[in-house]
Amino acid sequence: VTEKVYFFDIMAVDPKDPRPLYAQVYGAIRRAILDGMLRPGMRLPSTRTLAGDLSIARNTVITAFEQLTAEGYVETLTGSGTRVARFPQTIFTRDRRRVEDGIKGKIALRGRGLAVAPRQLPTYEHPTFAPGLPSIEEFPQHHWARILGRCARQSQPRYCDYSHMAGLPELRAAIVDHLGAARGVKAEPEQIIVLASAQAALDIVTRLTLDPGDVAWIENPGYLGARAALVNAGASLHPIPMDDQGIDIVYGRSQTPKPPKLIYTTPSHQCPTGTTMSLTRRLELLEYAYRVGSWIIEDDYDSEFRYRGSPIASLQGLDREGCVIYMGTFSKTMFPGLRIGYVVAPLSLVDALEVAVCHTGQAAPKLLQIALAIFIVEGHFAEHVRRMRRVYAERQRIFISELRGQLSGRLTVQRSDTGIQLVAYLEGSVDDREATAAAERLKIAAPPLSRFYLGDAVQPGLFLGYAATREDRIPAGVRELARALECVTVRKKRSSGQNVR
Ligand SMILES: Cc1ncc(COP(=O)(O)O)c(C=O)c1O
Repeated sequence: VTEKVYFFDIMAVDPKDPRPLYAQVYGAIRRAILDGMLRPGMRLPSTRTLAGDLSIARNTVITAFEQLTAEGYVETLTGSGTRVARFPQTIFTRDRRRVEDGIKGKIALRGRGLAVAPRQLPTYEHPTFAPGLPSIEEFPQHHWARILGRCARQSQPRYCDYSHMAGLPELRAAIVDHLGAARGVKAEPEQIIVLASAQAALDIVTRLTLDPGDVAWIENPGYLGARAALVNAGASLHPIPMDDQGIDIVYGRSQTPKPPKLIYTTPSHQCPTGTTMSLTRRLELLEYAYRVGSWIIEDDYDSEFRYRGSPIASLQGLDREGCVIYMGTFSKTMFPGLRIGYVVAPLSLVDALEVAVCHTGQAAPKLLQIALAIFIVEGHFAEHVRRMRRVYAERQRIFISELRGQLSGRLTVQRSDTGIQLVAYLEGSVDDREATAAAERLKIAAPPLSRFYLGDAVQPGLFLGYAATREDRIPAGVRELARALECVTVRKKRSSGQNVR
């Protein structure tokens, strides 16, 4: 008797249980995963079979599976059904038992969404081609250290006390000036809420604007950090596909029973596909949000690095009714370890956010805030961004040319006009998670595109960064990636029976 037969044979729903049926199915499967009865990688029965076995509607099982997928417990693969997720290596490599025991015994139901949600970025040092990682080597440390030292020596009481928890006025003003000039954002300094990252902004904003069960649209494929925040806020997630103009509003309207309370989008540089939302689609999205009374989160995380074409005005700058909650980060323009991000809040949310920053402990250290404000005002920030735009454009050019040269027939690269990462689609019928695992063994951090999808992935691919890898290291790095991909199984082509490679 296999484990699979054992668990699903005894699984049952109880008509006397006050929870809805889908919650019972979801809860039983999640429990079995956390208890180790269902092992990572194990295949679940189809929704049809399970619904038949339990004598319940198939839609009930589908809803339970969607919830399990959204929380990262299971993964749906094109053509091979639903499997128990292979939990992020980083969680388990340190002390697998300790983490499992913690999740089983101590972590609350709500907290489990936080503890097991799939991670996007590697947490080890010096990964190759890690998406989202800027060049630390090129950062002007000498200017930064000098300014930081000066601020620390002055040690003014206002950097040390409980005042200005939602952002020092100097930094708020510097951010407003930067965003007005660079992104067409229209705001007063009071509307800037400084936080300990864009992730902190996602966490607070979703908790402030959503009640459990509220419908939220998320781009599909979409940013994992946003998905985690929405799940933890209790949202009912509706994945909306992308077309070449941006999020597909027509599809969203036709597929979601209730209008969304919140729409999460990355219009300047869609994460992960790299699309820029067209002006027409921006205006349509705003009109739609006004009509149904929805918030829009505009996550503008790396658009300072634009290499070609002219930037399109931010949604925030086009918004007439105050429904856009704009957020940004200094993780890409400075460095991620800084942990400073911000929200440009509509006036109606400013007071609530100011209080929420204190109650959630998500404020950014004020010593770093004042140093950053001076770094911007003295012109070092603009100078660094300008210089890195040239450096990253060159790294992108070399990276794409090496990928096309060394991996032609295996990868199709999606060139992007913006940002510090790109998507490379895998040719043939390949499990991209296998490709990721092979690359990971060579310290190449290339998350699988399928991880960014809710539901079936449309095409397998890898999410790759080029900003943190020096020009002279790129060819060798791509050779290693090619070596890693040699080990990945490519299934036969349908008609010819030839290897797709
Ligand atoms: C789409 C997107 N939003 C937000 C962020 C987060 O930035 P932070 O480091 O400030 O949390 C990232 C980082 O990779 C990102 O890719």
